Amino acid sequence: MSSSSSGRAVAIEVEIDRLGAQGDGIAESADGPVFVPFALPGERVRIELDADGKHATLLEVLAQSPDRVDPICPHFGICGGCTLQHLETDAYLSWKRELVVQALRSRGLEAEVEPVRPVPPGSRRRATFALGREGQSLALGYRRARSHDLIDVDVCPILSPAIVSRLPKLKAALAPFLGNRREARVGVTETNTGLDIVVQGVRPKETALAKLAAEAGKLGVARVTVGGDSVMLAPPSVRFGLAQVKPPPDAFLQAVPQAEAAMSELVLAGVGKAKRVADLFSGLGTFTLPLAESCAVDAYESDEAALAALAEAARHTPKLKPVRTIARDLFRMPLGPQELKPYDAVVFDPPRAGAAAQAEQLAASKVKRLVAVSCNPGTLARDLRLLVDGGYRITRVVPIDQFLFSGHVEAVAHLTR
Ligand SMILES: C[S@@+](CC[C@H](N)C(=O)[O-])C[C@H]1O[C@@H](n2cnc3c(N)ncnc32)[C@H](O)[C@@H]1O
Repeated sequence: MSSSSSGRAVAIEVEIDRLGAQGDGIAESADGPVFVPFALPGERVRIELDADGKHATLLEVLAQSPDRVDPICPHFGICGGCTLQHLETDAYLSWKRELVVQALRSRGLEAEVEPVRPVPPGSRRRATFALGREGQSLALGYRRARSHDLIDVDVCPILSPAIVSRLPKLKAALAPFLGNRREARVGVTETNTGLDIVVQGVRPKETALAKLAAEAGKLGVARVTVGGDSVMLAPPSVRFGLAQVKPPPDAFLQAVPQAEAAMSELVLAGVGKAKRVADLFSGLGTFTLPLAESCAVDAYESDEAALAALAEAARHTPKLKPVRTIARDLFRMPLGPQELKPYDAVVFDPPRAGAAAQAEQLAASKVKRLVAVSCNPGTLARDLRLLVDGGYRITRVVPIDQFLFSGHVEAVAHLTR
């Protein structure tokens, strides 16, 4: 490390050794690793160290990596949403795969990990924005990197154009709800019938809701829910296999349809010819409903509104095998080995925290085939370790780039015993 001082800030030069799990470049120093956002391995860079000595701001790239490419978004480097648009595609996908490989290795698991299934830009159908004041004007967008300030989003190459193109008009339509509040949280999901919008952190105002309902058609909005009150133009609807599901406001939905299709294909392949399957953490039935085209499925989930939507969709879809929905907290009451006995295969897709309690019970069961779906390689590896210690063998691991240009990755694993 070499340093030069000009004025108050101390600039130093460092070599970047590797990429960290969040996509930051890491330089090794005598005092330990220094995290440098937007720097790539092999690059010599000038940085300004933060007071903690562990993080830094990139000032200049002095010697550039051959893998450096131009980012596709004008907000990149300022916006806190993406961390890795400046890395060439193959190197980027290898880094994502390595996140899964390393997570498994850290638990002593050496399973073969397939190449990452990519998703295209413009494919994300779900995002959460902040609506708030930025100086004299109103902003609807993301936070700046390492800041609470907002960036008004007019361009976002990872988001579906159906969402991005409507943000300026949505901002104007949602502005009256803000009142004296500093900020509101705005969740936007693109569904088959239009945008499903959930505004949180403000109180519903009847006149503003009525005005918004009158404009909703022009805005491409199917439903708006403000502080728990909804106005509906066309019930939002999403398709899983043959079934059309009407999601309740704010229900979980996979962020990218192409990623969801890859995950569904892998779930179906993983259960093989099973006749009876348990789908744990089923949500709206993303996997339950396609599975039910060939086998009986019991869907377990804690969100009762999501389960009701799943059950209704199953009732209205001809030719499905029997689908049962069971409301259950699987963290506190995982299915035990006795309850697991009727199933030839079990699919589990928990939130980021993983499914440790359920994995322990599965490890003690005799279920032949398991499919683990996870958006967190760390907790996936922990749960797979429990299953391998219980006698399961990992036969396939496939990462999916559901969270483009970020340090997050989805993965599906197949296990048998
Ligand atoms: C990653 S999502 C997966 C949902 C679904 N498999 C899908 O692909 O759309 C995780 C699901 O777990 C549910 N969940 C969270 N905590 C739970 C718990 N303690 N018990 C049961 N389900 C839970 C959430 O409501 C959510 O639907």
